[in-house]
Amino acid sequence: MKLRLVFAVLIFSMSGLNAQVEGVENPNRAHVNYMLNCQGCHGPTGAGTADGSVPVMADFVGKFLLVPGGRSYLVQVPGSANAPLSDQKLAELLNWMLWRVSPKQVPDDFVPYNEEEVGRWRAEPLQDVVQYRAALIDSINKLDALIP
Ligand code: HEC
Repeated sequence: MKLRLVFAVLIFSMSGLNAQVEGVENPNRAHVNYMLNCQGCHGPTGAGTADGSVPVMADFVGKFLLVPGGRSYLVQVPGSANAPLSDQKLAELLNWMLWRVSPKQVPDDFVPYNEEEVGRWRAEPLQDVVQYRAALIDSINKLDALIP
């Protein structure tokens, strides 16, 4: 398992897919953290699960940044907030993940997450994830309807 992981990271670094982006100090570390903590549910490309129990992040998750309450949600959602990662490493992982799985949806004026902001949102857990998410999806759909 360990060897396969190292090999995968090597391939990705060589392919340039882990290119440097703002707010990501170490793309390979972010990638390994994704593989270890998120990929089991979200899949290597953020495709989620076929039955929809884990939602699609690929070409989508960046849209949460466009609606009020979405930016904090990406930190507060349990998969993020409860990950065994420091605030700084979670910030790095989220920045990396957004660019990796949903680059087209990340707004041009996106300011990368940092340690302080992630710590702040983590200290305010969501009361009802399902309901909160549904309201955000509703806002995203309304926004999509405005775009011709
Ligand atoms: C045990 C499975 C599981 C793991 C592990 C997991 N997630 Fe998730 N994730 C989910 C589910 C399910 C949702 C949908 C919201 C909910 O019900 O929590 C979700 C939603 C999200 C969302 C919001 C996307 C949306 O459409 O709602 C983000 C961002 C996210 N996860 C990031 C992460 C990150 C980063 C990690 C790793 C540090 C991670 N998740 C680990 C299951 C998981």
